[in-house]
Amino acid sequence: MSQIRIGVIGAGTISRMHFNSYQKNPDAIIVAVCDLNEERAREKADTYQAAKVYTDYKELLADPEIDAVSICTWNNTHAEISIAALRAGKNVLVEKPLCKTVEEALAVEQAVEESGKTLQVGFVRRYASNTRIVRSFMENGSIGEIYYAKASCIRKLGNPGGWFSDIERSGGGPLIDVGVHVIDLCWYLMGRPKVKSISGNTYTKLGNRSNVENLAYYKAADYDAEHNTVEDMANAMIRFENGASLLVDVSFTLHAKEDELTVKLYGDKGGAELEPKLTLITEQHNTILNTTPQINNLSFDFAAGFQDEIDYFIEVCQGTKETLSPVSDGVEMMKILCGVYESSRLGKEIYFD
Ligand SMILES: NC(=O)c1ccc[n+]([C@@H]2O[C@H](COP(=O)([O-])OP(=O)(O)OC[C@H]3O[C@@H](n4cnc5c(N)ncnc54)[C@H](O)[C@@H]3O)[C@@H](O)[C@H]2O)c1
Repeated sequence: MSQIRIGVIGAGTISRMHFNSYQKNPDAIIVAVCDLNEERAREKADTYQAAKVYTDYKELLADPEIDAVSICTWNNTHAEISIAALRAGKNVLVEKPLCKTVEEALAVEQAVEESGKTLQVGFVRRYASNTRIVRSFMENGSIGEIYYAKASCIRKLGNPGGWFSDIERSGGGPLIDVGVHVIDLCWYLMGRPKVKSISGNTYTKLGNRSNVENLAYYKAADYDAEHNTVEDMANAMIRFENGASLLVDVSFTLHAKEDELTVKLYGDKGGAELEPKLTLITEQHNTILNTTPQINNLSFDFAAGFQDEIDYFIEVCQGTKETLSPVSDGVEMMKILCGVYESSRLGKEIYFD
């Protein structure tokens, strides 16, 4: 089967995971890189032997020698670039979140339908081995019907600054940035139930705490602590039409003793914890068992997860697989994320019809 010719748009921090994974896939070839920052694009093109460098994504999309693109830019550009790429006949892997608003998400969905191309939303955790293992246990009935899930992604200190903390470019803070991963993972494994209501809270009590010394944290490629218009933390209770519920809390900063990443699912036959390390909980012969699988990575492994996601995307481009994270799921996730912000703004539970 022919190699898929790739263009990467946005050559900042996360693009490295895309470049590395494409480079390791024999069915992919990195042809072009685009970034507003030419030096950054050129540096990535040199490192990954890409022949072409662009600073205007429209020029990259006009290139007939590109079959598919990864979009690794700021969130406010995801919808615009995705729609343009689909119209230019490219398959698209767009980083999470799909975009900033439900309206944008619906416009991207329409462009997918009109173009006949595939858009894969970068819900990378869906592709990871832990998730696949939990799914196989679920498919074999070990967990039963999941009626409750709980997820936390707490950073005691970790506002990445730059565009991440500019609500115009990011669409929000920890909820839309890291909350999206854990909410999506729970929702996906719960069987993607339809959302019924959301009660959410967001807080802007602590700011970005750029004054704190002696503690390192993730920073955007263009780190700037001056401007911060996003929440510090968010929490939500999400109710689904099938009666299941999901409780979530996330932060860029919080007076917490330590960082916390937990993803827990509770079913009527058993339970599963994906984070902090994969554990399956069952009952056998009147005894409760906590089972630890013998696998390479008991928690999400960044490099392996991205490799799995990108290998899958290449097969989608070759027409041999359907994506695990289609645009319709990106739309539903935007409804949930925007619903949490809306509920917080109104100070009450909101309902979906
Ligand atoms: N899947 C994950 O685990 C994960 C982790 C981190 C970031 N992300 C997502 O990846 C995206 C990028 O995040 P990052 O951490 O790499 O940010 P970054 O700031 O390090 O890099 C973003 C790059 O995009 C470029 N850019 C912005 N608008 C552009 C445009 N219109 N055309 C060309 N280039 C443009 C910027 O110049 C910058 O170099 C975000 O959507 C973020 O949510 C995903």
